Amino acid sequence: MTAHTYAYKDPILTLNNVSIAFQGEPILRDINAQVLDVTRPNMQQGQVVGFYGRSGIGKSVLCRIMAGLIAPDTGTVEVGLAQQPVTPGMVGFVQQRYPLFDHRTLHDNLLVAAQRKHAPADARQHVDAYLERFGLAPHRRKYPALLSGGQRQRAAIAQQLLCSDHLILLDEPFSGLDVAMIDEVKRIIVEVTTMDELNTVIIVSHDIVTTTALADRLWLLGYEHDAAGALVPGATISPQHQYNLAEMGLAWHENVEAEPEFAQFVEHIKNEIRGS
Ligand SMILES: Nc1ncnc2c1ncn2[C@@H]1O[C@H](COP(=O)(O)OP(=O)(O)OP(=O)(O)O)[C@@H](O)[C@H]1O
Ligand SMILES: [Mg+2]
Repeated sequence: MTAHTYAYKDPILTLNNVSIAFQGEPILRDINAQVLDVTRPNMQQGQVVGFYGRSGIGKSVLCRIMAGLIAPDTGTVEVGLAQQPVTPGMVGFVQQRYPLFDHRTLHDNLLVAAQRKHAPADARQHVDAYLERFGLAPHRRKYPALLSGGQRQRAAIAQQLLCSDHLILLDEPFSGLDVAMIDEVKRIIVEVTTMDELNTVIIVSHDIVTTTALADRLWLLGYEHDAAGALVPGATISPQHQYNLAEMGLAWHENVEAEPEFAQFVEHIKNEIRGS
């Protein structure tokens, strides 16, 4: 365990009493959670939030709410230093199945995204830079159907970075990737979060070890029980299920997986998920 010096500044994402039901069935209930800008001396330190929960509990639904793609029944999502209500396009969202336009080349897919944020000449420059950075330059003229799963994944992440501001949601970014590719996506995430102080990546994943190793904060979506011990419908993120890994000395270590405290913490999280 190594303690780093850090401090918290302004909120960059706030969930206030977010609830949603589908056809009368509560899915998410009263979610209150916040991401603050974490700062470290002489560094550009973005934030990484790991987000867990059992399959079908509502993680992807909450992602769509955080991305402004669906409105919650109650509550608000506020993003950025100005804490504005989220609208579609403000938050980058790499969905569980990453959509690219099949009739455009990889380059043109990225250009469409970049032009949503940048003037045409700048957009081209940004696209070239991202193609290089993500090791996709040799594939620029390929259509999405010809890309491998990992290439598609990186393309989808690049696409979202090109058109959104600082917040990016990755829903299952490691699924279907081999170990080398997982390492590569991990590197990209670290790179993204050290590119700008405000950059924030929220990773929804069943790969608890990989995600916890990257994160400085964790949210666990689960069910609560009422006073009589009955399960309350609708999943929520209880205060005791919002973990601060920086405080625990488990954030920003390259080899944190090798630490006994890390293994203990992962075991704890797994047990919480099993019991939720
Ligand atoms: N548009 C919708 N209408 C009705 N029910 C929906 C809708 N979208 C999602 N659901 C339901 O909400 C619940 C949560 O789904 P969600 O996709 O968020 O799960 P998840 O936690 O992401 O699961 P996984 O880990 O398997 O991806 C599921 O029961 C799902 O069937
Ligand atoms: Mg999901």
